[in-house]
Amino acid sequence: MRLSPSMKPLGAGGFLACLLPLALCASWTATPFTPPSVPLAVRSPYLSAWLPQGTGTALNAAWPTFWTGSTLGWAGYVAVDGQAYVFLGAPGGVTGADQAFTATQSVFVLTAGAIDLTVTFLSPVEPTDLVKQSLPFSYLALSAAANDGKAHSVQVYTDISAEWVSGDNSLAVNWTTTTGSVLTHQVQLQQQNLYAEASDHIQQGAAYYSTTSSPSATFQTGRDVTVRQQFVTSKKLANTQDTAFRAVSDNWPVFAFAHDLGSTTTPTAPVVFTVGHVRDPAIQYIIAGGALQARSLYFWSQYATVAAAISSFIADYGNALTRAQQFDSNIHSAASKISSDYADIVYLSVRQTLGATELTVSKAPTGQWNTSDVLMFMKEISSDGNVNTVDVVFPSWPAFLYTNPALGKYLLLPLFEYQATGQYPNKWSVHDMGASYPKALGHNDESGNMLIMALSYTQKSGDTSLIDAYFGLLDQWTQFLISEALIPANQISTDDFAGSLANQTNLAIKGIVGIRAMAEIASLAGDTARSQNYSSIAASYVQQWQELALSSDGSHLTLAYGNSTSWGLAYNLYADKLLGLNLFPQSIYTTQAAWYTTVATPFGVPLDTRHTYTKSDWQIVTAAMLQSTSTATRDLLVSGVHAFASAAISSNTEPLGDWYETSGGATEGFRARPVVGGHLALLTI
Ligand SMILES: *[C@@H]1O[C@H](CO)[C@@H](O)[C@H](O)[C@H]1NC(C)=O
Ligand SMILES: *[C@@H]1O[C@H](CO)[C@@H](O)[C@H](O)[C@H]1NC(C)=O
Ligand SMILES: *[C@@H]1O[C@H](CO)[C@@H](O)[C@H](O)[C@H]1NC(C)=O
Ligand SMILES: *[C@@H]1O[C@H](CO)[C@@H](O)[C@H](O)[C@H]1NC(C)=O
Ligand SMILES: *[C@@H]1O[C@H](CO)[C@@H](O)[C@H](O)[C@H]1NC(C)=O
Repeated sequence: MRLSPSMKPLGAGGFLACLLPLALCASWTATPFTPPSVPLAVRSPYLSAWLPQGTGTALNAAWPTFWTGSTLGWAGYVAVDGQAYVFLGAPGGVTGADQAFTATQSVFVLTAGAIDLTVTFLSPVEPTDLVKQSLPFSYLALSAAANDGKAHSVQVYTDISAEWVSGDNSLAVNWTTTTGSVLTHQVQLQQQNLYAEASDHIQQGAAYYSTTSSPSATFQTGRDVTVRQQFVTSKKLANTQDTAFRAVSDNWPVFAFAHDLGSTTTPTAPVVFTVGHVRDPAIQYIIAGGALQARSLYFWSQYATVAAAISSFIADYGNALTRAQQFDSNIHSAASKISSDYADIVYLSVRQTLGATELTVSKAPTGQWNTSDVLMFMKEISSDGNVNTVDVVFPSWPAFLYTNPALGKYLLLPLFEYQATGQYPNKWSVHDMGASYPKALGHNDESGNMLIMALSYTQKSGDTSLIDAYFGLLDQWTQFLISEALIPANQISTDDFAGSLANQTNLAIKGIVGIRAMAEIASLAGDTARSQNYSSIAASYVQQWQELALSSDGSHLTLAYGNSTSWGLAYNLYADKLLGLNLFPQSIYTTQAAWYTTVATPFGVPLDTRHTYTKSDWQIVTAAMLQSTSTATRDLLVSGVHAFASAAISSNTEPLGDWYETSGGATEGFRARPVVGGHLALLTI
């Protein structure tokens, strides 16, 4: 899927026109489509850089943004035979860019005079390597090739601003540059504030911008216009450091590198830069007795210093790219078995899901890293800052089941451990681990989700440790479901923005599946009597539910019992298929598959009859549940989500949203949330 220069559909002539005003540059290609925002460096809640798109925006026509939409200064120039062109950011000057994205990479090819510059943003996805997955760094690689067969002198330049370390540009920062085999600029807030956020940026730790040293590499720190002009004029930097520490926006200090690629005709070996944001400790976590534990990113168990982690990460670029291409190729071929629309959606969803998470480790009392104690934390992102929210973990769950179920276990463990300490008073499961990331301090519904996730983890991994350790809690939540599931009280559900409602058909499904899931768990634990009891309760509930849940003419499931004009996405039936239970009769699936074709819009099927908006994650989950019933309905749902993701309308500039309007495809405001992990649901059945 990488766009190679030879695949470029426009000739050099077309790109040369793009050195003139932007208006002439409207015709680059975006593969597979123009998403609302292109992921550039997306690895953690605090390393999250995007290029807003709307109807399509070139890499050098806008500043990258943090997921919230605030600017992240990230600039790049390429000089060709003495003439400088902007390739990244909006410091002035314009060329055009072809762009393409995969699950792990966003690749731009820009023509600057007689050379084509390939700009690769690689955010590794390393689900089976805890050290690599936990490294909060991302790559930028540049390679130049002549487009006229002649030799040209090429230099490249790039910088970041201090916007990478704060949500408040009036705060003071300081910085240092270290030289050696790797050149690294480090910048941080002078006033460090442990575990605190400002506008969703962490106010702790430092940003790191690095490149490999060489005789032709130069660096400089200083005022933005000064440092950039230095390159534009001299094609190299002064190897000087500005030590007048000041606020982020006070004469905008930038942290820059340049490389002289010499004279080139054939494509150059990539020049590699890495950008990262590291803090330590990373997460504050509540343990038994209400004590608070400081947890670190997992990579610390391998590297003693940030410098050692960066050296290893930068040296690994070639291998990381090979692994990324393999990952992209594997997931693309699996998703393409559903459809090409589906493969596109999956590509756009992977980095975003994992980029909301962090893998952590604790220290034993001896000071040694305890690598048996691995916990993963997820920030809800944009809807609020809750930690490991069960109704956000649950929709994202397919991404973990597919890429590595163990990550799912690390994500569930904080919830199980916390409730096992007895600090949570209710007989049902907790909703989240705390109101504001990165403080996982506990909080006060989600029993069915926990049972479904615990059993699906166990089935996919073959590891019974979770259900063995927490059998008591799982059984406790089942009692709650046995008393409450069939006739759900007036309550909000996962889709809390849609309002509360009594007797929700879809909520009842989840509770009933939860009871039956516990029957399976009991069976795996050898408790046959309990298993048979819960199995028969679940079967009896399904019988009663059918009487309550269908519309009077039998054409569809209702949204709420007894209201025949209501309907909705009954996505909780996905769990029946995922767990292989076959608890609900096939007739229900056949009915729903037919019904959705009668209510679909070009942007898919509304979430329910209360509103015209919908959820992308629940549509794909519904597509997965109908996969074996109707490929036509499956494809209809997938194409609705694809239409939204690729709508390229001016109002959609935010990292992919999951909540959108079916009339017109505008996003409803949620953005960059890990729930798009639910887009991998069709890969889990
Ligand atoms: C920068 O600020 C940090 C945090 O206050 C401090 O630890 C560090 O010593 C400062 N560095 C310099 C070079 O002043
Ligand atoms: C390491 O973590 C595991 C899992 O939480 C725990 O059971 C064990 O006691 C810890 N070991 C030490 C030495 O703290
Ligand atoms: C929920 O459905 C049950 C069964 O039909 C009914 O008895 C009850 O009144 C309904 N509750 C509400 C609040 O409508
Ligand atoms: C089945 O489980 C329910 C709920 O825990 C319990 O009330 C009932 O006594 C159990 N029945 C048998 C036969 O164990
Ligand atoms: C039935 O559902 C429709 C569509 O959601 C709604 O407009 C109507 O108010 C509901 N009727 C009752 C009695 O709740």
